[in-house]
Amino acid sequence: MSVDPAPQQTGEAVRFPAGFAWGTATASYQIEGAVEEDGRSPSIWDTFSHTPGKVQDGDTGDVADDHYHRYEEDIELMAGLGVGWYRFSLAWPRLQPDGRGALNEAGVDFYSRLVDALLAKDIQPWVTLYHWDLPQVLQDEGGWPLRDTAERFAEYASAVYERLHDRITHWTTLNEPWVSAFLGHATGQHAPGLQDPEAALRAAHHLMLGHGRAIEAMRAQGDADSTFGITLSMSPIDAASDDPADLDAARRADGLTNRLFLDPLLRGGYPADVLEDVREVTAGAYVQSGDEECINAPLDFLGINYYYRTVVRAGTAARDETSVWVGSGDIEPVSRGLTQTEMGWEIDPEGLYDLLTRVARDYPGVPLYVTENGAAIADEKGPDGEVHDPARVAYLDAHFRAAHRAIADGVDLRGYFVWSLLDNFEWSFGYSKRFGLIHVDFDTLERTPKDSARWYAEVTRANGLAG
Ligand code: FCB
Repeated sequence: MSVDPAPQQTGEAVRFPAGFAWGTATASYQIEGAVEEDGRSPSIWDTFSHTPGKVQDGDTGDVADDHYHRYEEDIELMAGLGVGWYRFSLAWPRLQPDGRGALNEAGVDFYSRLVDALLAKDIQPWVTLYHWDLPQVLQDEGGWPLRDTAERFAEYASAVYERLHDRITHWTTLNEPWVSAFLGHATGQHAPGLQDPEAALRAAHHLMLGHGRAIEAMRAQGDADSTFGITLSMSPIDAASDDPADLDAARRADGLTNRLFLDPLLRGGYPADVLEDVREVTAGAYVQSGDEECINAPLDFLGINYYYRTVVRAGTAARDETSVWVGSGDIEPVSRGLTQTEMGWEIDPEGLYDLLTRVARDYPGVPLYVTENGAAIADEKGPDGEVHDPARVAYLDAHFRAAHRAIADGVDLRGYFVWSLLDNFEWSFGYSKRFGLIHVDFDTLERTPKDSARWYAEVTRANGLAG
């Protein structure tokens, strides 16, 4: 699918609150490469991407953007965007190759150099401890469906935090546990590629437990300058019609996509209706006494990744056993015929407004950040050597305006990270989807800032949008 010519930006000039955090985001496996260097062990994404048929065109993250060797150039480019923040993830298999025990000093050294280089450019590091690259050794023991993986994660988080917290104030435990759990274990589109609904629910719980345990272990070290949070992928879910069956499909999909994570984090326990919906898949015996209390550890911030709204109806087809909505394989997504990005995701800035205002209303009291938002566009270098991407500019402009309206309506939104700094390895789509503000030639690894990069630099400098 392609994107229509960019609509003209017609909004009024808007200014964001003073101190609003503008940033860009990446993830370790998507950009670093150097998968066999300096003691890094394989992750589940190395295994998955090297398994024929799993990733488009057989692409792997072996080289990716070679950021491991080019991080200084990348930080220089980032400085050109005028961003105050950089959200990146730490590769667990680089830092703790055995998935337990001693840290790998070469791994600590890499991230330490990265953090110093960022701070030297006045860019604050915003760390994610887990963006999907589980050490394969832990997968071999059972991975996230196994309770012990939560304990391993807390041990890893605590050890890494001890070494880096003097220079990093913002610590995010997990990126998008919904994706890890359900795309990794139910649909099989992501590593480790299982199609086992019960394992997906177990994984979801152990990811959340790992989050809680990790925060406990990091907080116990007593650094008052540290803040702790998590990033969730969220989608507002609407029913395709007022038919009670469609309304119930929307309730169920919202339950599994959003409330299964938000409720234990911010309301103290799993939503009863969702537990009932999945009763045929699992009795949930793996949720032990005290787990929900642990997951409910106070959050200093909540990261929201927003890409699309989801509209669903109750299908008539037989239950799909590999559905992302486990136990509700009858749910069907409905297209509204809106313009889509290259991911096939409908462009819907209003969805961001709806999501932010809903979270602020239903889960009040926690500062919010958009930790990811952006668009995959079929960018090409023009004859002038530049990448003109007006559709990305229009996309971001509209989403920034939606975020600004949410703030004006009282939402405590404190920052916005554009996905992504660079074109990179887009998981099962390999290198076929370009999300970057900066173009990467995957043959030469040459970086070229796109028009959207220059436009974003104006936004960050003005702390707002021109009319
Ligand atoms: C999110 C992921 C991120 C990237 C974007 C497009 O789900 O967190 O790594 O792939 O989607």
